[in-house]
Amino acid sequence: MAETKKLLRALAGETQDVPPIWMMRQAGRYLPEYRATRAQAGDFLKLCYNPELAAEVTLQPIRRYGFDAAILFADILLVPQALGADLWFVTGEGPRLSTVTTQADFDKLGPVNDIHEVLNPIYETVKILSRELPPETTLMGFAGAPWTVATYMIAGRGTPDQGPAHLLREENNALFEALLARITAATIEYLSMQIEAGAEVVKIFDSWAGSLKGDAFEKYALQPAREITAALKARHPGIPIIGFPREAGEKYIGFAKATGVDCVALDNSVSPDWAAQNVQVDGCVQGNLASRHMVTGGQDLVDETRVIVDAFKGGPHIFNLGHGITPDANPDNVQLMIDTVREN
Ligand code: CP3
Repeated sequence: MAETKKLLRALAGETQDVPPIWMMRQAGRYLPEYRATRAQAGDFLKLCYNPELAAEVTLQPIRRYGFDAAILFADILLVPQALGADLWFVTGEGPRLSTVTTQADFDKLGPVNDIHEVLNPIYETVKILSRELPPETTLMGFAGAPWTVATYMIAGRGTPDQGPAHLLREENNALFEALLARITAATIEYLSMQIEAGAEVVKIFDSWAGSLKGDAFEKYALQPAREITAALKARHPGIPIIGFPREAGEKYIGFAKATGVDCVALDNSVSPDWAAQNVQVDGCVQGNLASRHMVTGGQDLVDETRVIVDAFKGGPHIFNLGHGITPDANPDNVQLMIDTVREN
């Protein structure tokens, strides 16, 4: 049967007059209905582990806007938690984790096979969604890339320059690589279970790929993405995969070929024209409107949206922001972006 879902058609390499559209963090604090459901759950992590409510917040932006894809509601830091790290969120500050900087810390982590005990509710959310989503909406699973997940596990929090992770990489490379290997293996199992539960595409978020330079980018961004992609495609032939090496700059060139992903997600630091010429030549791209337009709106939003649609109209493209929508965004601006993308 020919594929009818717009997002899957783009991932299969089809050029479309109107690109499919979804938005990173589309289920989030800018939506009053999300805030209400999160309050009902108690807090963010309870929401992640409550399949009924996690499915509900995933569906909210689909009902409101009719996006072409729904992304599973969860977080990249659930994998470290499932490996045995302590995880909590400090309001207004972000995530906190117990740190892994010594062999003793590493030895306390659990084996990969045990992660499903913690992550089972997430697979349940995927199952609910695959029953409840409209037939035209693609269900997307995701995980963090090993490097990005490791930066949080090593520092115990988000860091502006990923300094602690770079330090461990230099001072105890064997431990750093053992940690990366454990996360990579867990990520393969986690994404595999999401696919078995009904995810039709998976995205790998390497939010901090931009701080890996030279040989380190090859070893710790490309290599793990290649390994995860190969394992998933061997187990689930044809499963489309989106890679997001955020802030990779000129290293976006050749990323799809080097890793085997079907689509490269672009942040908004690269110009659409440059990316069309240098990245989209290898296949589907996703992106890349700056999130601030969801706060500021107006003619700038319309103009910039048109620039992006035009730049990528010669090849397969999935419209998205360059990073997640922020809590201060105005929901009306999201509608304006969608109307502009779909206007022709
Ligand atoms: O995109 C979606 O709608 C799907 C769900 C999703 C969340 N986090 C929900 C979330 C996805 C795909 C993520 C990915 C994620 N999580 C990344 C990679 C993408 C990126 O943003 O670079 C990272 C680095 C994380 C780790 C994380 N989770 C941080 C640093 C924070 C705090 C910052 C913030 O925005 O508050 C979170 C919390 C988080 N994850 C929220 C949501 C909706 C906000 C929590 C809340 O409701 O209080």
